Amino acid sequence: MAVLDLHSPVIWISAAVFAIGISVLYQNVGHALNVLGIGKTYTSVNTTSCHQIGIGVLHGCEDIVVDPNTGLAYLACGSLKPRQHWLHPDDEYDLAHESEADHVYVMDENGKYSDIKLLETASDGSLQPLSQDFRVHGFDIYWDPHDPQDMTFIFINHQLVHNAVSIFSYRHGSHHMVHVETVHSDLLHSPNNVLAMSKRAFYATNDMKYTRGIMREISIYAQLPHGHVVYRNEDGLFSVAAANIRYPNGIAKYKTWIYVASCTDPGVHIYKEDGDGKLSFQGRIVYSDGVPDNLFVDPGSGQLYSTLFLKSREVHKYFKHPSLNTTRVAATKIVRLTQRNTGEGFDIESLLIDSGDLMPTATIAAIQRRNQIRRMLIGCAMCNALVVCSDVA
Ligand SMILES: *[C@@H]1O[C@H](CO)[C@@H](O)[C@H](O)[C@H]1NC(C)=O
Ligand SMILES: *[C@@H]1O[C@H](CO)[C@@H](O)[C@H](O)[C@H]1NC(C)=O
Repeated sequence: MAVLDLHSPVIWISAAVFAIGISVLYQNVGHALNVLGIGKTYTSVNTTSCHQIGIGVLHGCEDIVVDPNTGLAYLACGSLKPRQHWLHPDDEYDLAHESEADHVYVMDENGKYSDIKLLETASDGSLQPLSQDFRVHGFDIYWDPHDPQDMTFIFINHQLVHNAVSIFSYRHGSHHMVHVETVHSDLLHSPNNVLAMSKRAFYATNDMKYTRGIMREISIYAQLPHGHVVYRNEDGLFSVAAANIRYPNGIAKYKTWIYVASCTDPGVHIYKEDGDGKLSFQGRIVYSDGVPDNLFVDPGSGQLYSTLFLKSREVHKYFKHPSLNTTRVAATKIVRLTQRNTGEGFDIESLLIDSGDLMPTATIAAIQRRNQIRRMLIGCAMCNALVVCSDVA
């Protein structure tokens, strides 16, 4: 019978390794539970100036871009049903009920909004309604530096045949935009959001390697670094700009920095452009209590606004059953990231928390400034309305 020899170095080394293993595991498990919000409840804080607008019309506004020149907000919205096609690709998808195409709206500082029609040029040169399918996710706008009224909208478009990016030209003030091109690539297999670099060039995040089946679940739950950022250059060629990212989601730019939100390694990666469409990693901002979605850069200050899912399992349930209108317990947090004066790192400030009643999840928080009014617009991929907060810190 073997007796433990407590003087044996092997025993002590094994015990030490075991203890380190347990503490690493404990920290990881503790961090994971915190990030998923398991066992936590949240009540709303700082939401008294917030209210819903455009109920039933401004629904499913997954992403918002504010024109830095005019303060007008552009919203990419859509009915909730068709989103199941790209949010839950393994579920049976009922094409017959796809009654309404997605919409783009422009909104002023008083909450007055209008639809911008999507048109294409027919072979005889006339303008007709867009004939391709259009299912928006993230989007971005490029302003011509010589003529800021000349705008190019670049949308992630989850078409039924393949995921694509659709580019439209738009003149400030017009009631329609005109289709320029829709592009796709093997490197664009699971696009989520896009950063417009010119009228043709863009970066796009690909959140997953496997868009369906068990590998999709495994790569999300095992937090596999399977996502990447792709670059499409002026010549229309695609290449990988940054690889090995855990579920990259929102992407935004300030000066020479490019920020990419990572969902399953929650936080924000910071990159710089390296030329040739390559991004070089500079560091990351780590979140301790939530999963980020889209990012908004305030062009004046360079501050980043980031929406967080505080209870991502509840968010997942809500995304499957949005007719519940509320998760009651999902909880959303909006944070603001400010680069420290020293250039070393970021301060993370909490701005508000919502328990899930007013905003049953949020995917974008954007600051709108126009005619002395400053407010925050909060959109969400699967909500029935937009939320506006008139008093933001
Ligand atoms: C959700 O909101 C819609 C539209 O306002 C309404 O028709 C529906 O009954 C609501 N669902 C629930 C579960 O309250
Ligand atoms: C509420 O706002 C104050 C400042 O206006 C801020 O310090 C605090 O963190 C906010 N609370 C939450 C939970 O976001």
